[in-house]
Amino acid sequence: MKYYSVAIDGPAGSGKSTVARRVAEHLGFTYVDSGAMYRAVAWQALNQSADFHNDTEIEQIAKELHFQLDKNGWLINGERIDSLLRSPQVSQYASNVAKTIGVRKILVAKQQEIASKNHVVMDGRDIGNHVLPHADVKIYLTASVEERAKRRLNEQQKRGYDGDLQLIMKEIERRDEQDQTREISPLRQASDAVRIDTTSRSVQQIVDEIVTICCTKM
Ligand code: C5P
Repeated sequence: MKYYSVAIDGPAGSGKSTVARRVAEHLGFTYVDSGAMYRAVAWQALNQSADFHNDTEIEQIAKELHFQLDKNGWLINGERIDSLLRSPQVSQYASNVAKTIGVRKILVAKQQEIASKNHVVMDGRDIGNHVLPHADVKIYLTASVEERAKRRLNEQQKRGYDGDLQLIMKEIERRDEQDQTREISPLRQASDAVRIDTTSRSVQQIVDEIVTICCTKM
């Protein structure tokens, strides 16, 4: 049986998760939030007061974590910890653990296994270029740094964390730089991806555009 896949990549705050979740719902596909997996490793490393400079220790944490996906998202070691994974501290450390080659190998293998058994919409940084290079549809979402920071602040406030717009803009720029310049699987638009700028556009408009693209390719 052929399983379809939609890869949605883009920088922090470009609207990937919201859009990807809705596209998956619309198509009846499984939504795979790959960023949450890197966040889970960072979260567990923080819990264990691990040394973020010690790749072997961080890799061991990734190996031991249990990831299970159901229709509501990830269960990490059997627990739903979505809001803990979105804390500013976890966001900051997630891109550090994402630089570790061993962690990437473990998580990418899990992502590819899910896509080999399900129709998926998967979002992340390296999905179109590395995890699912043969995805049926590839999308690269982007938006201005200011707009992305406003969205992140809004999201944080809804989850009960306050923040400062200027600081979030700096943090987003730092993460962009780290994700785009890392040696392994840097964030880069795939040559065959459709680029969509989400600045000043509604989620529904973007979802409709992507669903239309999917319908022409599947
Ligand atoms: O998408 P999200 O902001 O939740 O991702 C958290 C971090 O995980 C990113 O800053 C990035 O460094 C890393 N990541 C990655 N590859 C992915 C998804 C996320 O390196 N496929």
